[in-house]
Amino acid sequence: MQQTTQLTLHENVQFIYELVLARMELEAAGVEFSTGENLRGFSTNGRLDHEHILRRSAYVRSIDRAGQECLLTDYHFIQQYNQTQSINQYLTHWFYPYKGKFHPQMIQALLGIIGLGPGDTVLDPFIGSGTTAVEAQLLGINCIGVDISPLCCLISRVKTQSWAHIDAIEEASEYVAPCARDIHQQRLFRAPDDIELPPGPVKDFFDLTEMIARSDKSRRRRDPVDAFVHNRDRMLASVRDHVEVKRTLGLTFGEVDIRNGDVRAMQIDPESIDGIVTSPPYSIALNYVKNDEHALTAMGYNLDDLSEEFIGVRGHGRERFELYNEDMRQAAREMHRVLKPGAMAAVVIGNMTYQGEEIDTTGMFTEACEDAGLTFERSIDKIIFGLYNVMQKEYILLFRKA
Ligand SMILES: C[S@@+](CC[C@H](N)C(=O)[O-])C[C@H]1O[C@@H](n2cnc3c(N)ncnc32)[C@H](O)[C@@H]1O
Repeated sequence: MQQTTQLTLHENVQFIYELVLARMELEAAGVEFSTGENLRGFSTNGRLDHEHILRRSAYVRSIDRAGQECLLTDYHFIQQYNQTQSINQYLTHWFYPYKGKFHPQMIQALLGIIGLGPGDTVLDPFIGSGTTAVEAQLLGINCIGVDISPLCCLISRVKTQSWAHIDAIEEASEYVAPCARDIHQQRLFRAPDDIELPPGPVKDFFDLTEMIARSDKSRRRRDPVDAFVHNRDRMLASVRDHVEVKRTLGLTFGEVDIRNGDVRAMQIDPESIDGIVTSPPYSIALNYVKNDEHALTAMGYNLDDLSEEFIGVRGHGRERFELYNEDMRQAAREMHRVLKPGAMAAVVIGNMTYQGEEIDTTGMFTEACEDAGLTFERSIDKIIFGLYNVMQKEYILLFRKA
């Protein structure tokens, strides 16, 4: 007689949308299962590719069979490497307090649900703080990340490239020192002149550390020098964790290519992408330029010039919505152009409330994708935290290129 196998969910799985994604992960892996009465797991009598579940499942914590050792998933192992102890901000995910970050666990699940595996290439055309890139890299999936914000590109690069340069970064941390305390100065920290850091991963690491210190100064009124030292040490510890996780689990990382560019005209070959996982700006809900003003200014950018290119920030009043819709229609056409036939896109997007009126961004974008040639397959409701004044709910939309 076939023995029953129990698949137990992580304790942090609390919402209906997570249970839905957990089920979809198993379905995508070809597992036949039933959901346990307490909704904390699944059981199966059928064939189960243990290796696949252990390596790939984001929501299953363990596989249990009577009389056998309980097997724990890689995700369970990885999420323990969390220097800040903030939920889901393990490894380098916590670098920079970026508003509107994805939940990494959800991204890992979506990568599996849209059928991506090692060697495939995922595109996130609004890479933001790099969540898709970190998760894809861990799974051996290559990632192209595009963002109009040079700050987002810096964050995404540092999160995904520092592990390969840990020795050089540790060495440089001995001599990169404060050169100013005044937050209005262009640079607050640098290496002495005779060993000026050349552009590259080491310089990126310290540039980002400075941007986090600047953010701590403006949001938490922390002394920038203290903040720099504190964050640098925690960031180094997280990069060491990244190295250790890679080694202990024997992971082959995917390649990551972060490009400062515009989703409306991406320098990507037609039909070259195996899947898209992304989250666009939610209409005008968040002003990404204003939000990161301190960092973008310190990096030498003119905020007015940048605002001309950011979707959801262009224009004023009602005109802003019209420009947003126009930009998102072009984004949908670009996403369709670069996807391979049969490939899927997962898009997380929400409606916003403007002057008491709900703006149906989700409906507009779904229509734009369908007009571009993508077939709508499914929508999953998802609750969000924070931003309650402008948004309450978001949706995970799944499309497929015919
Ligand atoms: C919702 S955020 C993405 C957050 C991301 N999922 C994460 O986990 O951090 C949307 C992103 O779209 C970017 N963006 C705005 N206009 C853009 C454009 N024209 N081309 C590419 N990216 C753009 C913003 O800079 C912002 O990072």
